[in-house]
Amino acid sequence: MVTGGAVRLSGAGLGCPTWPECVDGSIKPVIGQDESQLHAWIEFGNRLIAWLILILALAALIYIFKKLRHRSDFKRLRLLAILQILGFLGQVILGGITVLTKLNPISVSAHFVLTLPLIAGALALRHRVLDRPVIQVLPMTRNLTKVVTTLTFIVLLFGVVVTGTGPHAGDADAKRYPFNFRAVSWLHAESVIVLICLTIALYLVVKVSETPEVKKLFGRMILIFLGISLGQGAIGYLQYVTGLPALIVGAHLVGAILVWIHGWRLNLTARTEQEVKAK
Ligand code: HEM
Repeated sequence: MVTGGAVRLSGAGLGCPTWPECVDGSIKPVIGQDESQLHAWIEFGNRLIAWLILILALAALIYIFKKLRHRSDFKRLRLLAILQILGFLGQVILGGITVLTKLNPISVSAHFVLTLPLIAGALALRHRVLDRPVIQVLPMTRNLTKVVTTLTFIVLLFGVVVTGTGPHAGDADAKRYPFNFRAVSWLHAESVIVLICLTIALYLVVKVSETPEVKKLFGRMILIFLGISLGQGAIGYLQYVTGLPALIVGAHLVGAILVWIHGWRLNLTARTEQEVKAK
């Protein structure tokens, strides 16, 4: 995600103007191609790094087959690892469509959004493999946690729309969404305010109704999520008022990934008594 963001922010989205080759007749950049060498190598580097994910996903699948075959949740672990591989292949195809449609914002947005279930799946796999303990919470806490995680996803979706409307397209001639940039930015920021308020509500519900153990463990997780979201919100406003300098937009992208990871971890960790028994 970060290198993909670097491609977009450096304007190198069409550094390799075709796909799956970089330029017609060559899988890698060639001297003398129309696009600048810097852009070509930035885009090509991003394509190369992506294959690392496939290697890691295959390694996870092999590990599960070799070492975790005896586990009762083997089928679930196998499914999660296979989904990583399928998701990666989906991303390869979407990445190709993105280049071939000359960075159409719908394709760029879809390319970003597909990473969110991929991250969620990878975290779920890690959580299971490491046998991470869940925290047993009351149904009200569990339901509110689900709302917070869902809203986090929606905040990210709005962010992607803002990006598709804004100036950092990855190429000067790329199409943009026909929305008003200010309006979509405010919609995005307002969804963040609702998210922050609900996260505070979740924290208070935990403080008022849960056991001391849950208050300590889950309360700390909520506070970490709140801190990261507030920091990310501050970066969001900063980039908006400073005219979207690439460096701050890049920091906002990294922040978005962190917010999603921590939002999803809340959802992975809190479980009701019924869910714990059914595990
Ligand atoms: C929890 C807080 C926030 C999260 C998780 C979040 C997430 C995101 C995401 C995922 C994107 C799209 C990144 C991409 O496609 O590369 C984005 C873009 C953006 N966000 Fe946020 N955001 C948050 C807060 C804010 C706030 C408070 C503002 C203030 C206006 C803001 C302004 C923007 C702007 C202007 C963009 C477009 C940047 C560009 O041109 O690429 N964000 N945000």
